[in-house]
Amino acid sequence: MKVLIFPDSARGSIHAADIVSGALKHDPDSVLGLATGDTMDGIYRALVARCAAGDISFRRVEAFNLDEYVGLSAEDPASYHHYMRGHLFDHVDIRDEAAHVPAGDAADADAEAARFEKAIAAAGGIDLQLLGIGRNGHVGFNEPSGSLASRTRTVWLSRSTREANAHFFNRLDDVPSSAITLGLGTIREARRIVLCAFGTHKAAAIAAAIEGPVTAMCPASALQLHHDVTFILDDGAAAGLALRDYYDEAAH
Ligand code: GLP
Repeated sequence: MKVLIFPDSARGSIHAADIVSGALKHDPDSVLGLATGDTMDGIYRALVARCAAGDISFRRVEAFNLDEYVGLSAEDPASYHHYMRGHLFDHVDIRDEAAHVPAGDAADADAEAARFEKAIAAAGGIDLQLLGIGRNGHVGFNEPSGSLASRTRTVWLSRSTREANAHFFNRLDDVPSSAITLGLGTIREARRIVLCAFGTHKAAAIAAAIEGPVTAMCPASALQLHHDVTFILDDGAAAGLALRDYYDEAAH
């Protein structure tokens, strides 16, 4: 695993955008796995600017989002689909039909999850997966105690995850209690994974993910079993790492 620690989130975000840009230049037909959340804001801002400048193009890209709240439509301002339109899709040249987000308002959420998993496989699998991390170590919406081999499915959200995401809603009671998420098994099939975490509120989850045991109690620790993972951190998120000096040396 590569662990890259930057002085601040701005520089970390630029590095993540560099990795995505490099992937698109190397293979314009890349299949991207995309994430939502505050962590992604700076990365998408940089990608939008580069696309506007003609430096990169999403025209031939296929993109699959990690997760979506059950019950929310793409038009709901709190939905991840809405986030993706506002932060990326509406501002780059990606084709509408190539920008996939699970339909939170599907009549049958389980069937939608199964359809999404098949669509990823039909696209040839994910080349580059972007990830954030929850304070409890979740990736996507794979909460602690879930199977490390799980596939795309509907899951029940923990109270702590609903509280952490409540600022996207009017009040905690409005945060849906379930979601569709790519499974950890699905995520681990991506050819390359980049996980970004910024801020001290992520330090404990990052320490557990990178230096703790592989355990369902920290879903991100499953990434230790992947052969091409890069963690992009700022000082705050790296604060709990015992081997910080080693990572810094290895990065040079
Ligand atoms: C949510 C999402 C995750 C995301 C995490 C961190 O729970 N389902 O995919 O990584 O929050 O979000 P943030 O970047 O806002 O801290």
